[in-house]
Amino acid sequence: MKDASPQTIYLEDYTPFGWRIAEVHLTFRLAPHATRVLSRIRFDPAPDAPEQDFFLHGEDLTLIRAAIDGAEITPALSPQGLRCAVPDGSFTFETEVEIAPAANTALEGLYMSNGMYCTQCEAEGFRKITYYPDRPDVMATFTVRIEGTEPVKLSNGNPGGSGNGYAEWHDPWPKPAYLFALVAGDLVNHPGSFTTMSGKEVALNIWVRPGDENKCAWGMESLIASMRWDEKVYGREYDLDVFNIVAVDDFNMGAMENKGLNVFNSSCVLASPETSTDANFERIEAIIAHEYFHNWTGNRITCRDWFQLCLKEGLTVYRDSQFTSDMRSPEVKRIGDVIDLRARQFPEDQGPLSHPVRPESFQEINNFYTATVYEKGAEVIGMLKRLVGDDAYAKALDLYFDRHDGQACTIEDWLAVFQDSTGRDLTQFKRWYSQPGTPHLSVTEDWQDGTFTLTFAQHTPGQPDAQPQVLPIAVGLLGPNGDEVAPTRVLEMTETRQSFAFDGLGARPVPSILRGFSAPVVLERATSASEKSFLLAHDTDAFNRWEANRDLARACLEAMVTEGTEPDDAWLGALEQVVRDDTLDPAFRALMLALPTQAEMAQHLHANGVTPDPDALYAASESLGNAMAARWSGWLGDLRAACTVDAPYDPGAGQSGKRALGGALLALLTRLDGGAAAQAQFDAADNMTLQLGALGCLVHAGTEHAALARFAEQWRGDRLVMDKWFALQVAATAPENAATRAEALTRHPDFDWKNPNRFRAVFGSLAMNHAGFHARDGRGYRLLADWLIRLDEKNPQTTARMCSVFQTWRRYDNARQALMKAELERLAAKPGLSHDVTEMVTRLLG
Ligand code: BES
Ligand code: ZN
Repeated sequence: MKDASPQTIYLEDYTPFGWRIAEVHLTFRLAPHATRVLSRIRFDPAPDAPEQDFFLHGEDLTLIRAAIDGAEITPALSPQGLRCAVPDGSFTFETEVEIAPAANTALEGLYMSNGMYCTQCEAEGFRKITYYPDRPDVMATFTVRIEGTEPVKLSNGNPGGSGNGYAEWHDPWPKPAYLFALVAGDLVNHPGSFTTMSGKEVALNIWVRPGDENKCAWGMESLIASMRWDEKVYGREYDLDVFNIVAVDDFNMGAMENKGLNVFNSSCVLASPETSTDANFERIEAIIAHEYFHNWTGNRITCRDWFQLCLKEGLTVYRDSQFTSDMRSPEVKRIGDVIDLRARQFPEDQGPLSHPVRPESFQEINNFYTATVYEKGAEVIGMLKRLVGDDAYAKALDLYFDRHDGQACTIEDWLAVFQDSTGRDLTQFKRWYSQPGTPHLSVTEDWQDGTFTLTFAQHTPGQPDAQPQVLPIAVGLLGPNGDEVAPTRVLEMTETRQSFAFDGLGARPVPSILRGFSAPVVLERATSASEKSFLLAHDTDAFNRWEANRDLARACLEAMVTEGTEPDDAWLGALEQVVRDDTLDPAFRALMLALPTQAEMAQHLHANGVTPDPDALYAASESLGNAMAARWSGWLGDLRAACTVDAPYDPGAGQSGKRALGGALLALLTRLDGGAAAQAQFDAADNMTLQLGALGCLVHAGTEHAALARFAEQWRGDRLVMDKWFALQVAATAPENAATRAEALTRHPDFDWKNPNRFRAVFGSLAMNHAGFHARDGRGYRLLADWLIRLDEKNPQTTARMCSVFQTWRRYDNARQALMKAELERLAAKPGLSHDVTEMVTRLLG
């Protein structure tokens, strides 16, 4: 509600709700502008709850009627909800409200997308559907009746009766309101089935708009793989007769784990080789798994309050990353996750939006679905597993599911399970949930009489009150000839400063520290370039091999920017060895070949006390890319040819790794041939990975005109492919054109800015074009702020999420800082600005 003043909610203020709900009965009479929602709820006093007024959340509802035990009442209404006197004992509460799904552009609550009704209730959307205690610790079984002429009408749980104009659903598992879902429309299904470990048949369906049926097979395959994996690895069986997935075009997030009825942004479920890239296929596999895994970590065991969000999200991200590691390559997955953590979570934790994995206060919970809660939250689970070991982790999880099934839990409950099952005191480890900031870990070495000693020190910049964290530091040692002389050992650091000795060594070893990125810290270590090259050549740990290369790449770019040096010959020689080593996974070689992004370099320079100049970073990246291409011109073409896949398209790790390496090589070749090879690949491409990869090269080379037109002609009717068309032009174009191009695209007839995917295609890509967004004259900032102001009136949630692209504003020079600050202030001053965006802008400026 725009007119109510924003309120700050505190973790320490938690109080349980005064009543329990045995059963909820809902009836929906669907109509685009006047849907009626009838609810009948049985309330029983909660024995241990403190005295309180009876209050139900409700926003933007027109109350038609309310009754207690059949007698009409007139409750007191406010923009936040309803208050009334209630009997001392149990009672039945009934309301009828009217809502207007067709007018709902915020995409929260019940809304319409292309004529189809759908809901998004997490975190606090259910209160826009009916009056209810909309908090995750109130769990109830739901019986739902949907009345409407739509051919398909779905809700949570198992199907009940249905007939002309109605369908009924019953969900036997008590759930919080945020897991409620309803979908109704003209949909077609792609069916499948799964037999659970105890022999139960489950009907699986992916529901899509007519025309999208041929894009469901991969989603179904991924769902079945996820169900099987959760049984095998976590012993978790599915618990309903049906599992429905629906694809929706207008959706703020990626997907949502509603019980038995997952709702997906169509970009996160629909796939075909012609229209989706390898990266799309991998993401769809992961996100289907993620939402499915929530059935146990989130739904059967949910959160007591929204401060505990990482309880379900951190754990479920951790589980989906384990799944992807098992389906594909664990090394490649780990490197990708760390790239993502550094790109999204580190800036958050080191800037004005920094908050603990478990925040202690918020105004708008939607603003806390962050990389810190998700990705750092998953890192914390990974550390816990590393500390207790695989078997103890498995036992602890069994106990967690056993002890807390059907409950709404806290991080304290989660840690108690580990304490009780392992006997380990986790008091200090718990700091990971409460201390914000990224710890920095420095290390010095000592060598004496066959004993090698590593001394570590930890501190968290910007957090003067930070106490030492428990850090699992995985270390291995290499001998002078490159052989491993001490296998990986996990050192458990608990103090500010701590030494660990390795004895019985014949010669001074080279340490490989923080293998697999065993803790989410910044490792500060003054090592020579030759030692890094040594690790790049010999480390048995793939992550640290990649990390050594990344360090060298960053150092090279830094020297080019700050000292105007030429690219580092020795490093390029060592990198060449790896890229040309056919015994290595092509996906890994592609990762080695990718340069640090300019945003990553800006972060790196800032950390080293250098103010990043986006134009200089762009120029250095370009000249390094050109130098690589020129230096390797003799073999780029042959190696690329060796990456050709001569088999029907398969999105698995094998083929996609080859295409990733081939794509990286094509980008280099384009620097030599002006786009000839890319044009040929574009013309011949029979899958989107090759087509879009080639188009990206052409845009970068500035020779995209004809290909871009052909692409649009070919894919005019496909929204998801056209999102790529919008995104690529802005992301891959030269920085001086980025804002102009984004601006021109906003005038394109297909720029449907109220669709979050399309808005993000243009403006997310603008923010990702580092030097383009940070154009010296502030055009990039201004354009984005203009559109954020506009979008906020329709969709505060998506607007607020996009505000975070400004989170690094203090890293840059004074002139750019002033320009960004002015845009943030302009946003803040907008009359009627949503609470979501107000909170974000206040934190960014604060
Ligand atoms: N529960 C979330 C979806 C959600 C997020 C609802 C924010 C309401 C507000 C879902 O499980 C989720 O985390 N989705 C992610 C993708 C996932 C693979 C990390 C998303 O939508 O981005
Ligand atoms: Zn999730």
